[in-house]
Order: sequence, then C-alpha cells, then structure tokens
Amino acid sequence: MSHPSGHSPFKLDILKGQVALITGGGSGIGFEISRQLGLHGAAVAVTGRRQPVLDSAVEALTSEGIKAIGVQGDVRKSQDCERWLKETCDRLGGLDILINCAAGNFLASAEEISVNGFRTVMEIDTIGTFAMSRAAFPLLRQRGGGRIVNISATLHYGATWWQAHASAAKAAVDSLTRSLALEWGTFGVCVNGIAPGPTGGTAGLSKLAGVDASEEAVNEAVAQMVPIGKVGAKWDIAITAVFLCSSAARHLTGDTLVVDGGAWMWREPA
Ligand code: HXC
Repeated sequence: MSHPSGHSPFKLDILKGQVALITGGGSGIGFEISRQLGLHGAAVAVTGRRQPVLDSAVEALTSEGIKAIGVQGDVRKSQDCERWLKETCDRLGGLDILINCAAGNFLASAEEISVNGFRTVMEIDTIGTFAMSRAAFPLLRQRGGGRIVNISATLHYGATWWQAHASAAKAAVDSLTRSLALEWGTFGVCVNGIAPGPTGGTAGLSKLAGVDASEEAVNEAVAQMVPIGKVGAKWDIAITAVFLCSSAARHLTGDTLVVDGGAWMWREPA
C-alpha cells in the first residue's frame, strides 16, 4: 500500500511538544525530514552553511504552520555545533530529537581523492555526527531521554565504485550508531540510523548518477535496479524518521533501517 507524498499514515500530533534539530535540514532529504517532523507536531531548528537556503527553508516550513528556526554554520566546527544547540534551547525551549543529516560527497576514484578530500567527507559525515551527538547528549539526558537519528547510506554494504571516502565515512557512522545506543540507552536516549537508497530529487542522485541526463531519465534508469521498481522519494526517508522519533519506536535502538526498495541487494538476473 502506498501513501502519496504529503499524506501521513500517522496522527499529526505524535511529535507534539518535541523540539528537533536537523543538521543539513535546509535542503534535500534533510529539508523533507524537517518538514515531516514539523507536520507531526515538532518545533524544528534547521542547520546549514548557506544562509539564503536556510532562509527559504524556514519560510517554507513556517508557511505550513511549522515552528521553525534556521541556524547557520558548519558541522565541521565544534563551536558552531555548540552554538546551534544553545540557540535551539534558548529559542525553542530544549531538545528532544537530533537528526544528523549533514553530508558531503562527490564521485572520484580512490587515486583521484586527495587526502584532504577524504578527510573533508569524514569530517562532515562522521566527525560531524559524533560532535553533534556528543554535544546534544547532556541536553537529551537532562530531558530524561530523546532520539538521535543518523542518516547513513548503503554504499558500504559491499563496495561502491568511486565512493571510497563516503563509504568509509558512513560505515563509521553506522558503528557510532551502535556504540552510542549501547552507552546511552540507560539514559533513555535511543540512537538509530536510516540508510536511504537512490532517492529522487536529491544531490546524492543527481551528483552520483554520474551521467548528464534529465532527472526523469536518471530515475528511470536507476529504477531498473530497484526490486520495488522505482527510486524512493524524500518522503520515504522522512516518514521513517517520524516513525523512529515516535513512541512506536520506543524499544528500537542501535539499528539502521534500510529504506531503499531493496536496491542494495539487487543483482542482474543470472
Ligand atoms: C575530487 C574533490 C571533489 C571532486 C572536492 N574535492 N570535490 N576531489 N573530486 N569532485 C576535494 C577538494 O579538491 C579538496 O581537497 C577537498 O575535497 C575539499 O574541497 P572543498 O571544495 O574545499 O570543500 P568544501 O567547499 O567544504 O565542500 C565539501 C564537499 C562538497 C564535500 C567537497 O561536495 C560539499 O559540501 N557538498 C555538500 C553537499 C553534498 O554533496 N551533499 C550530497 C550528499 S550525498 P584538496 O586536496 O584539493 O584541498 C550523500 C549520500 C551518499 O552523502 C549516498 C548516495 C546514494
């Protein structure tokens, strides 16, 4: 059974009274997560490097009746991470949910990636996830618990061409998801991940498809390699985040849910 994007299978008050901070929440999958958390009752703080992108994200969220603020900065700077959390607490009254969605990526063969290029992706994806989670933990513990959701990938389940840097970074993110879940469960903090597959309308798909073709042509070609027969929508990822942040997932921690229509296990028929 499918739900058209924009129609929720959940009650719209399941996150009422909660405050969420979404890194990389101004665009792509992060924006749709911000939107769905907001539509289900949460107040949201969205972070990003580009102020104009944040401004339009906040305007779009507010126009749908969502309480939203934008906090500009770079997840690679720990002082920015600390400032985002302080501003979120000051302006929205606390923190219940952290979504680590900020990511960087590009297509490059292993011999083309400079050490700095590799480090850059590790710093955004892995160290950024750790820095935000570490800084958020005292705030979540103070509230008696909370949720952290790390946006991962499926690149590293086998190996993916021209993605040595992002594969290593996301493998480390999955490991962190388990370590933090283990150590923080006793404080009521559940830590999970979502591993999106090919998702329509994202930088991930347009950048990484590696072809100069229209969005429809890319979607059609990629859909051939998805058992469910289509690329995912940003809604599919965002509604999974809503589930993970809801009371329905209260006993779920340390797991990474793969939301890819079965794409990671696809093989050419023999
Ligand atoms: C090789 C590259 C490169 C490229 C950058 N670098 N682009 N190397 N091929 N195409 C190298 C640079 O040469 C430099 O190393 C280092 O990376 C840092 O580059 P900067 O441009 O200075 O960094 P910055 O401006 O901070 O940009 C970070 C970025 C960028 C990661 C490189 O692409 C970015 O910010 N993207 C954010 C948005 C994004 O891509 N999101 C998509 C996420 S998709 P040197 O040695 O020259 O100094 C995703 C999902 C994966 O994560 C799953 C998909 C299915």
